Amino acid sequence: MDHFQYQNGELHAEDVPLSRIADQVGSPVYVYSAATLARHFGLFRQALDWTDHLVCFAVKSNSNLAVLKLMGDLGAGMDVVSGGEYLRAKAAGVPGDRIVFSGVGKTEDEMTLAIRGGIRQFNVESEPEMRVLSRVAHGLGVTVPIAIRVNPDVDAKTHEKIATGKSENKFGIPIARAREVYAEAATLPGLQVVGVDVHIGSQLTDLEPFRAAYLKVAELTRALREDGHTITRLDLGGGLGIPYRRDNNAPPLPLEYGQVIRETVGDLGCEIEIEPGRNIVGNAGVLLSKVIYVKNGEDRDFLIVDAAMNDLLRPAMYGAHHDIVPVVEPAVAAPVQPYDVVGPVCESGDTFQKGAQLPKMAADDLIAFRSAGAYGAVMASEYNSRPLVPEVLVSGDHFAVIRARPTFEEMLARDSIPEWL
Ligand code: LLP
Repeated sequence: MDHFQYQNGELHAEDVPLSRIADQVGSPVYVYSAATLARHFGLFRQALDWTDHLVCFAVKSNSNLAVLKLMGDLGAGMDVVSGGEYLRAKAAGVPGDRIVFSGVGKTEDEMTLAIRGGIRQFNVESEPEMRVLSRVAHGLGVTVPIAIRVNPDVDAKTHEKIATGKSENKFGIPIARAREVYAEAATLPGLQVVGVDVHIGSQLTDLEPFRAAYLKVAELTRALREDGHTITRLDLGGGLGIPYRRDNNAPPLPLEYGQVIRETVGDLGCEIEIEPGRNIVGNAGVLLSKVIYVKNGEDRDFLIVDAAMNDLLRPAMYGAHHDIVPVVEPAVAAPVQPYDVVGPVCESGDTFQKGAQLPKMAADDLIAFRSAGAYGAVMASEYNSRPLVPEVLVSGDHFAVIRARPTFEEMLARDSIPEWL
């Protein structure tokens, strides 16, 4: 459930009509609902209320400082994968002891930054990284908590670009070799083994791959304890999918996911960490856009809108579907017609949807791309020199711009022309 509903014939974000945001901020613009974010976060908490836990919001899914502050104030931890994300979490007021550092290629600088600023744990992804982290931590005279990310070789049954738990993927240490690697970790200065980490992919719509992976983690945890390691934490990653189509079967709920966690690793007495991103923020955001032209092609009509692949990359990159809805509520039983909804960027890939069924549209009409809160703004670029898309946060009947649209001057000012040219 989200808070983007029609009221008085117009799509609202909570109690704010989207047309008001378009009037004041312009379009395209991302619009997030604070109440939806809070609601989704609460569902994960509830799903794990049977045990000690920390829900670490995956910052990569939406890293706006206002979103992070909102989550942090609710008690969320943060899962970060770069020095930049770490600094964002800190700038949003999240204490270091609630920040988990994941990611396959942490540099020494990033490690140092996080150790100095305070960190809950590093999720180590490879042996070379583990040795470097040991050296860096030891050099700084501290011991840092680590979990080692294992690759359970489980098929997440999701899009190949976002599956991470098969042996062919670059992530983690093969689970078959984990005992060996933990044994080495125990000998390295500056590291304190506290847990096991796993993340098998994103937009999972079936719980069975989670179950398979977590059973393997449980088995490994028992083996590691036999080997003499103290395992007190399990980081089970993110990945629970969301419904991208309103008319489709919805993926499992956080509560059902929590039940799988309980059934697979619940008897180990470990503190549970999870790293959801999409499930918290995906359906808490829309991309609001305006029709520039309706172009009647030879065999189809194109809706040329002012959002493009640089603002919302998912359709071009993964063939992803985002429901497109008109901001003015169509009359009951109003006729619909197919449109190819496209952006102005000079690539055929800049197509959001072919044959979208919409009521008759005209220039200046507003539309909203639903489910755009996760991996939307964070993946935006200025391709075609289109200024970076702005973001707005709504709470109740008010809203604030949480990232302003840069002016053309600001955009150009970031480049410089060498004096020898
Ligand atoms: N933890 C780790 C270690 C991850 O790599 C990810 C996502 C998450 C947590 C959060 O997963 P979520 O709960 O959001 O599914 N750009 C792609 C998604 C990439 C996901 C990468 N890792 C998309 O637009 O679908």
